[in-house]
Amino acid sequence: METRVQEIRRAFDRDLAAASDKEALAAIRVRYLGRRAGLLTGLLKDLRELSPQKRAASGKAVNDLKTHLERSLEEAEARRRGSEDAPGEELDPTLPGRAQRPGTSHPITQVRGLIEEIFLEMGYALESGPEIETDYYNFEALNMPPHHPARDMQDTFYLKPHPFHPKAGLLLRTHTSPVQIRTLEKQRPPVKMVALGTVFRRDSDVTHSPVFHQVEGLVVDEGITFAHLKGTLEHFCRRVFERDLTIRLRPSYFPFVEPGAEYDISCIFCTGGCSRCKGSGFIEMGGAGMVHPAVFEKVGYDPERYSGFAFGLGIERIAMLKHGIDDIRLFYENDLRFLGQFPA
Ligand code: PHE
Repeated sequence: METRVQEIRRAFDRDLAAASDKEALAAIRVRYLGRRAGLLTGLLKDLRELSPQKRAASGKAVNDLKTHLERSLEEAEARRRGSEDAPGEELDPTLPGRAQRPGTSHPITQVRGLIEEIFLEMGYALESGPEIETDYYNFEALNMPPHHPARDMQDTFYLKPHPFHPKAGLLLRTHTSPVQIRTLEKQRPPVKMVALGTVFRRDSDVTHSPVFHQVEGLVVDEGITFAHLKGTLEHFCRRVFERDLTIRLRPSYFPFVEPGAEYDISCIFCTGGCSRCKGSGFIEMGGAGMVHPAVFEKVGYDPERYSGFAFGLGIERIAMLKHGIDDIRLFYENDLRFLGQFPA
């Protein structure tokens, strides 16, 4: 009996030293400690057949073996857990996998793409400018000299003077209109461009965010008229909202256009007046107008020869109208329950 105990002990030590993973350890447990056919169970059974004297002598050896087997196995299992997983965290390969949700692009990105597509179709070029702008491009070249009261229409984030450009007067651009100037400076007519991008204002409520997105449009050539502006806006709005609608222009003031206007679309939610159009039948879209001669002079164009129109609109506003969203902040909270509703 003692020799069998010795043999089993040696075989167990050998097997345990060779066991490299969880499966191997489990197999050893079954082979040696298994309740039905384990080698130790066999020994215990045989022990019962022995005479009482022999049983006493062999019993201790079998018991020592049992302690050795159990302890060594437990230690080996604990070591393996420690090295393979975080403590207490075991891989259960029978659990169903966690499906990867395919991503979608953000609703603002989607609407931005649609707007670009529509203007590219109409032959516009895509332009861009910096988000950190100089006072000159954001205001002055747009006919808003220092202390001009029109600057108050846009609550601005001013930046500390740059150490290398102390006079530049840096700020976060309040609109995409500075791209008008940058484009007019770098090329000659005909100019036909749109610029889409991020703009910043010190403003925050359900329809205003301090960071939002605008589209700027500019067309300059000989013989450009207000009719071209209206036709362009109407075509664009019909395409973007995918329905027949009309444009209404109301006189308004922006220092860089003359005449200036705000434009509305006929309400896309009702025919006779609803809460979204506040009973008026029209929904505000943005600002527009004919390029002011003072702007042409700043960039060295002859205002007698050239004319042009410009317009601006908010991408969030279009996305909100298109999808019936009433709180602008939903766009920036990154809540997947919201974002998941816009499969690309
Ligand atoms: N830049 C103006 C704004 O953000 C909108 C605008 C653009 C008005 C072009 C006229 C022409 O308020």
